[in-house]
Amino acid sequence: YGIAVLISGNGSNLQAIIDATHNGSIQGQVSAVISNKKEAFGLERARKAGIAQAVLSGDDAIAAYLQDLAPQLIVLAGYMRVLGAAFTHQFAGRLINIHPSLLPAYRGLNTHARALAAGDTTHGCSVHFVTPELDAGPVIAQSTVPIQPHDTSESLQSRVQAAEHRLYPQVVAWLAAGRVELKEDQVWFDQSPL
Ligand code: GRF
Repeated sequence: YGIAVLISGNGSNLQAIIDATHNGSIQGQVSAVISNKKEAFGLERARKAGIAQAVLSGDDAIAAYLQDLAPQLIVLAGYMRVLGAAFTHQFAGRLINIHPSLLPAYRGLNTHARALAAGDTTHGCSVHFVTPELDAGPVIAQSTVPIQPHDTSESLQSRVQAAEHRLYPQVVAWLAAGRVELKEDQVWFDQSPL
């Protein structure tokens, strides 16, 4: 089960997924890391793990690369460019993203500051299938964290990121095991016992 990961930056979620493939909690391998930024630290993480790296910009170049690689799953992990409809249709059902909010709340950027400004008491992250509309595809799973009275967007972000690093590998493991699929635009879960 081959997994391609698209990044733009630090790649801490990439790292959590690589670690989960190494410790066997994901039955699969990260076969390539693609970044639209050549300075992304996640490329260094890929290099250290012996994973192929590509710096590509634009949907067409990435789609061509992925067509050759033919991964079973494409994981967006801090990939900070919006993918167009042609791309999301081409890879529908095999393309997932993690977003730092409890969707449908706070699509887009600056989610932590927005949750704080709204006076929310909980926040979190969501993993969803990617569709053309930004951060609006069917949600597979979410993780909730408390907002504490003295939180700043930085402290809240680090609490959410810790939750991301648990949630994203778990969802990838389910997909790799065939326990979750996109069927007729809805998330289907295998209900049989483990
Ligand atoms: C994460 O917070 C994720 O929710 C958002 O971008 C950030 C990426 O962080 N989409 P990292 O590059 O995985 O460290």
